[in-house]
Amino acid sequence: MTDDKDVHPGRDETPPNYPGYLARDVRSITGEVLHLRPIRPSDAGLLVSFHSGLGADSIYRRYFSMHPVLSDAEVVHLTTVDYRDRFALIVEGEHGFVGVGRFDRIPNTSTAEVAFIVADAYQHQGIGLMLLYNLADAARPLGITTFTAETQADNRSMMGVFRASGFAVTSSMEDEVITATFPIKDTDQSTITRARRRLIAYGADEIPRADP
Ligand SMILES: CC(C)(COP(=O)(O)OP(=O)(O)OC[C@H]1O[C@@H](n2cnc3c(N)ncnc32)[C@H](O)[C@@H]1OP(=O)(O)O)[C@@H](O)C(=O)NCCC(=O)NCCS
Repeated sequence: MTDDKDVHPGRDETPPNYPGYLARDVRSITGEVLHLRPIRPSDAGLLVSFHSGLGADSIYRRYFSMHPVLSDAEVVHLTTVDYRDRFALIVEGEHGFVGVGRFDRIPNTSTAEVAFIVADAYQHQGIGLMLLYNLADAARPLGITTFTAETQADNRSMMGVFRASGFAVTSSMEDEVITATFPIKDTDQSTITRARRRLIAYGADEIPRADP
């Protein structure tokens, strides 16, 4: 890829409306300390490295096509969001991104489409569910009430995350693609699941009040 700074001289700057208050340390369910924060345009290089390390199956499930390399335009699109109608959270470890979750509001509605991708080596460690809860937290104050997602019918992990969340998920299937839709209002079950998730990641002695 072209050196990002040459093409977009201002991309190292943090956008003025960057919601830095959402950034914090989190843990996977194995207890590994990771960092969660909103994406910013200067993350282009990290996103490219993350994408290049993904397995073909993960890429196919996220993009519905073989897509080993992101174009420059895609990288700009994915890292430059307005934090209102388009939003992305990343989780990073010592060596770079380990997961990305994002939403794009369906224009002029209170519904947003969500998408997730977690590095192969970090899947099944609670990162997808954590991204979902944190995206919902970011979306509610923006007037978003509902998330929707399209996923392949056999994507058990993604549907597992939605169902495990405790949100009231409804789904329909067409041509082997499931559309899952759910209000992001907390339910008794989402509150319990989230508390359990914290307990697993942190242990009973140090469970934080803030959400993982
Ligand atoms: C789908 C994806 C994002 C899930 O991320 P993840 O970090 O592995 O998800 P989690 O670890 O939070 O949860 C996944 C699993 O735990 C289960 N789970 C999570 N939290 C749970 C809980 N509290 N209670 C019960 N089950 C739970 C889910 O059912 C799911 O089951 P599995 O591990 O047997 O697959 C990841 O697998 C991925 O990146 N896949 C490729 C890209 C993709 O499919 N994107 C979706 C298109 S939008």
